[in-house]
Amino acid sequence: MAANSEVLSNKQVILKNYVEGFPKETDMLVKASSISLKVEEGSNAILVKNLYLSCDPYMRARMSFNQDPDFSSFTPGSPIEGFGVAKVVDSGHPEFKKGDLVWGTTGWEEYSLIKNPQGLFKIHHTDVPLSYYTGILGMPGMTAWAGFYEICAPKKGEYIYVSAASGAVGQLVGQFAKLMGCYVVGSAGSREKVWLIPMQSQLVELLKNKFGFDDAFNYKEENDLDAALKRCFPEGIDIYFEHVGGKMLDAVLLNMRLHGRIAACGMISQYNLSQPEGVHNLMNVVYKRIRMEGFVVFDYFPQYSRFLDAVLPYIREGKVVYVEDVADGLENAPAALVGLFSGRNVGKQLVVVSRE
Ligand SMILES: NC(=O)c1ccc[n+]([C@@H]2O[C@H](COP(=O)([O-])OP(=O)(O)OC[C@H]3O[C@@H](n4cnc5c(N)ncnc54)[C@H](OP(=O)(O)O)[C@@H]3O)[C@@H](O)[C@H]2O)c1
Repeated sequence: MAANSEVLSNKQVILKNYVEGFPKETDMLVKASSISLKVEEGSNAILVKNLYLSCDPYMRARMSFNQDPDFSSFTPGSPIEGFGVAKVVDSGHPEFKKGDLVWGTTGWEEYSLIKNPQGLFKIHHTDVPLSYYTGILGMPGMTAWAGFYEICAPKKGEYIYVSAASGAVGQLVGQFAKLMGCYVVGSAGSREKVWLIPMQSQLVELLKNKFGFDDAFNYKEENDLDAALKRCFPEGIDIYFEHVGGKMLDAVLLNMRLHGRIAACGMISQYNLSQPEGVHNLMNVVYKRIRMEGFVVFDYFPQYSRFLDAVLPYIREGKVVYVEDVADGLENAPAALVGLFSGRNVGKQLVVVSRE
């Protein structure tokens, strides 16, 4: 692989062109380029070896042309970017040194030159799987934690509904809600996710057995979402953790209780539509006095160490589990990313670039 000791071949996942509609594997190309493993003298950059990459729904917005400063477009012809776990190979930055483990925004490639490493988080706890920093201990974990505890303001005994419940964020919201003593129902889009899934040579009910949800349903097998929600919540929903939007949100609005809360985390059913669907039952927000609040996890990043103090013990004591869907190698990264939009992933979707 090495041409000399400092220049290596660098496999990359390149965005070919801006994407319209549902993303496809062929929107990306995996090809090799080369990279010097030394940062330029006097620069503040760091050079990292990428270990694990996170597949996240927000990346879809960056595949389209847009001028949103929070979700700026990827550059066609260049590697796409996302959250990942990496090891520092060389550093010109006083706060990072060779061998440090970090998580944060990096390139979808074997090695990345990160010009502004200030936004990266250093990884100090390695008694848990490193891949967890793409999920439960990274951006999706913070999303579940901030969204549930801060935005939902939950109370013991409340009725909670989580859509996309088996995913990176949803599986944690469900478990946090159970730890608080709430009644929790989750939905997902396949029998496999809701009912039986092979795990460590046993068949387990993912949402109910593995994550402890009180009830679960497959929304793709329900002709009437309103009826499904009335079946699961005869007394109505106090808190909806919103991941999908569209028809699901409309059905939920009909089933909210007085003074209910909706944490608007995401609306994945809308991300690939050229024309967003309308919402018809919004009047319920008024006469049921519902508080619906959107949030973006980046606003909570300054609280990362508080988050770790809360969640690391849950992992160590086995109070919270985390299911990952692991794609092996950058060659399989485009399929893993587009699979989020058909529900192919079971648990947190990530890509292993290298295990060390
Ligand atoms: N606000 C924030 O800061 C923030 C941060 C992270 C994530 N999010 C949002 O949170 C949501 C979940 O993200 P995640 O990372 O945990 O992803 P995920 O749930 O691990 O994966 C996405 C899942 O969405 C479901 N889905 C895909 N297309 C759908 C459709 N048309 N209708 C209904 N469900 C669909 C699929 O599961 P099913 O089998 O259930 O269909 C798929 O597995 C997304 O909306 C994401 O944008 C927001």
